[in-house]
This record gives sequence, structure tokens and C-alpha cells, in this order.
Amino acid sequence: MLVHTIDEVREQVRNWKKQGLTVGLVPTMGALHAGHKSLIDKSVSKCDKTVVSVFVNPIQFCPGEDLDKYPRTLDADEKLCTDAGVDLVFAPNPKEMYGDVNIMSNDFLTYVIPPFFYVNKLCGKSRVGHFDGVCTVVNKLFNIVQPDFAFFGEKDRQQLIILKKMVKDLNIPVEIIPCPIVREDSGLALSSRNKYLSPEDKVNALALSKILFNIKACYNKGITDVEALTETAYSYLTERHSLEYLEFRDADDLEEKTVADDNTIVFIALKIGDVRLIDNIAL
Ligand code: PAF
Repeated sequence: MLVHTIDEVREQVRNWKKQGLTVGLVPTMGALHAGHKSLIDKSVSKCDKTVVSVFVNPIQFCPGEDLDKYPRTLDADEKLCTDAGVDLVFAPNPKEMYGDVNIMSNDFLTYVIPPFFYVNKLCGKSRVGHFDGVCTVVNKLFNIVQPDFAFFGEKDRQQLIILKKMVKDLNIPVEIIPCPIVREDSGLALSSRNKYLSPEDKVNALALSKILFNIKACYNKGITDVEALTETAYSYLTERHSLEYLEFRDADDLEEKTVADDNTIVFIALKIGDVRLIDNIAL
């Protein structure tokens, strides 16, 4: 069932809870692909009822980002959800979520601000305010749906770590379930933004996964020095690539590592033309 209002979601969830049923939430911005489907499948198998939210959240886009051209494919998203056994698709518009306040000015909205240490690095460095927008909307979705479990992809690993911290710090009664990255056979991590890539740049995009897989292979052979591991990346980069970051950080608190260990995540972001892609791998 597709609904657009908060009241409809609340009524439906209240009925489920009265029957003692567990509720899973898969928050998305739509343009659903096999990566989202894997989160949905996990929720459907773990929970009695599954809600998928489809909302392109304007307050997590920074000025100059792709808010207007972000793919919006609600009909196809609804079909994917129905076929996958989702019980409720919640697709609000910005007014339903934020009311009449001017959301482009953060003077009028109550925000959930994650700790500076978690956001002043990796994607947070170039996307200032992005994680404030993510934490605010996810907190709102948790309040609206009141799920027992919420499913997030490891593809957006910094987001996942920040949301876990938010849930812990604010004692939100939900369990976050991390879900592994889904990749094409080529190694490319699935992302709604892959739609922006020309066929040629889709090949160039393989640099991300190749760099990460090679670093993991080197680590498995016993190389732990981060400088040496970083060096191995450069042979995969061409003039089409503009590397934003390649960093080794702790899987729990994002502290920087100089020596890699089994609790290290390697994060990469690079631009190919105008398209910014991210990926990561656990060592
Ligand atoms: O990962 C996403 O798609 C978004 O950041 C999320 C969690 C749905 C919040 O808008």
C-alpha cells in the first residue's frame, strides 16, 4: 500500500503494534535498485511488517548538489516494493515532512546535529551540513514509524556509523541492522547515482572497487602500513579521476589509522566528470 501522509502511517503502525507485530523500516530516497532490494529482503524476512520510506530529503543536499535532478521513480519503486512483500510505502512530500517552514534556511527547523568529530571528515568535509539533514530526517522517520528495526546499507558507511551513534546517544528504541554492499559482477557498488554515468565512465568507475580490493589483498598478505597501502591506489587512477579522499579509519568511531588492523574501514570518494562516487571496504 502506498501512502503519503504521516497520519496514515501512524494509524497503520498502531494497528500492527496492537497485534504485537514487529515493524522494520527501510529508509530510502527512492530510485530503488538491487542494493535497496537487499535491505528490503532482510527486513521482510526479519520483521512481521515492513515499511519503506521514499523521500528525497532536501535538507541533506548541499547548495550546488543534485537535488533537482536526483532520480525520482515512484511508480517503479512502488512496484519493486509490492513484489518484494513490503507492507507499506510511505512517500511524503517535503511539506508533509517539514510543514511550511523555509527548509532552505536552517533558522526555522529543529535539527539533530551529530558530533563534529564524526562529520568533519570523509564525506562530511565536502558536504557540510549533509549529516545534519540525514540525522534529522531519519530521526523524524523513526518518530513517525516507530520501527523495531531499521535497515541501512554499508555502502554509506559514514552515515551508518553516525546513525548508530545517534541512536545510542539519544536512546532511540530501534535496532539498526547494517546490510552489506551489493556490487555488480564488475565490482562496481550499486548506487542511484550510477545512472548519471556514461558507458565509458562506468568503466572508469571500476577504479573505486579495484583500489579497495587491491588494498584488501595487500593487507591480507601482511602489509599494514597505511602509507604503503595508499601508494598502491595510484596506478588505478587516470586523468578522468579526481580523488577526493582515500582514508583508513576505525569502524566504530572513524578515528584515523596509520597502521591498518581488522577493525579498519578503507573509505574512498572520487569524481568522474561531474559524478561523485563513494565506496568502502572492511579489512
Ligand atoms: O541513504 C539514504 O538514502 C538517505 O541518506 C536516507 C538514509 C534515506 C535519509 O534520507
